Amino acid sequence: MDSLSRRGARSDASLAKAFLPLTQASHPDGRIYHDPAVLEREKQTIFGRDWLCIGRAEEVAEPGDYKALRLVGQPVLLVRRPDGKVVAYSNTCLHRGVEIASGEGNAKEFTCPYHGWLYGLDGQLLGAAHMRDSEGFDRKTCRLPELPCENFQGWLFVSLNRTPEPFADYIAEFAEKFGYIDMEPMRLGIQRDIPLNCNWKLMVENFIDFYHIGVLHKDTIGRYMKTTDVPYETRKRGQVFINEYDAGSHTQSGEVFVERIPALKDKPARFSQAGVITPNVNFFVRPDYVMLYSSWPVDADTMVMKQFIVFPRHIVESPRFPEIKAQFLVMSDKILGEDFAMVESLQNASKATHFVPGRMSRLEKGVQHFILHNLERIYGAEPPLTAAAE
Ligand code: FES
Ligand SMILES: [Fe+2]
Repeated sequence: MDSLSRRGARSDASLAKAFLPLTQASHPDGRIYHDPAVLEREKQTIFGRDWLCIGRAEEVAEPGDYKALRLVGQPVLLVRRPDGKVVAYSNTCLHRGVEIASGEGNAKEFTCPYHGWLYGLDGQLLGAAHMRDSEGFDRKTCRLPELPCENFQGWLFVSLNRTPEPFADYIAEFAEKFGYIDMEPMRLGIQRDIPLNCNWKLMVENFIDFYHIGVLHKDTIGRYMKTTDVPYETRKRGQVFINEYDAGSHTQSGEVFVERIPALKDKPARFSQAGVITPNVNFFVRPDYVMLYSSWPVDADTMVMKQFIVFPRHIVESPRFPEIKAQFLVMSDKILGEDFAMVESLQNASKATHFVPGRMSRLEKGVQHFILHNLERIYGAEPPLTAAAE
């Protein structure tokens, strides 16, 4: 048992003020962004329970393709089996737990690098030398623990919880909001991992904080957007959607790079859509591509942001793609660079002696919704307040 209260965040005055109606609410105490005990609780009650989007199916395109991951420290091995199904195993050798594969590649079997136990792509232990005298040991009954793994339109989801919420229930809102795009035939054009000196929640909050866009990003995505009246739609599980806004593609002009995604052909010129898919995904639609950002804690004060940009397949495979990618990255790095400076400053403020978190703006409805969801999961569920942020 850890020492953190489970009595609910509303029993703590420095957190309870976040639960007031938006017009009366203040931001919560900074410790939720830097306390290691909070992160440990989040690992148990959030990352250890939920479905987690870990990337695209084309990253393990061929039978035998594999990728070793550590999800909040937990070793996971993603494999495409010979039957075409993508599966996830605990990447822990059944002998002493060493990761049986690292990095990524293509394999017919996996050999643990420590004492050489051998595994098939189906997780079955095929060989274990010098074990004949180990009484009762039968390698045929030994198989790597399999973790739930599902694919929605090419996006792969894994759960560290072997009995998670049914995937159909979890994915229903993502499917409702973004399923019409038909992302299965699209392909990953850009994937980067970006380390940041801030708590993982601050980056998720930043991406739904449209309050800052007209100020911080006035020369980029803030050029067209009206941020005085953001139509936040708040849903269960802390999810937030902004169903349509005017931002444009990450080009100098804001126009599309090449052509639109077929499902978005009839949308306005700079059609944009956004959502938080809890626990840690921010999803964005532009007329010609979609962007998924996932925020992963490293420790309480640092994180890695994974950036996935998916375009129609023929765009990614076209000779022009390197030029499109370069242009995207120039604009993306400018926008994200502006954001990164802010979230790292927020992180510092979370420990500043003389900072008392201030009042919320009505434009922070989405941010409040996400914060309250996390507070309830960190400190325990409580009876809903009639004055909650809905
Ligand atoms: S830890 Fe893998 S064979 Fe010993
Ligand atoms: Fe921003």
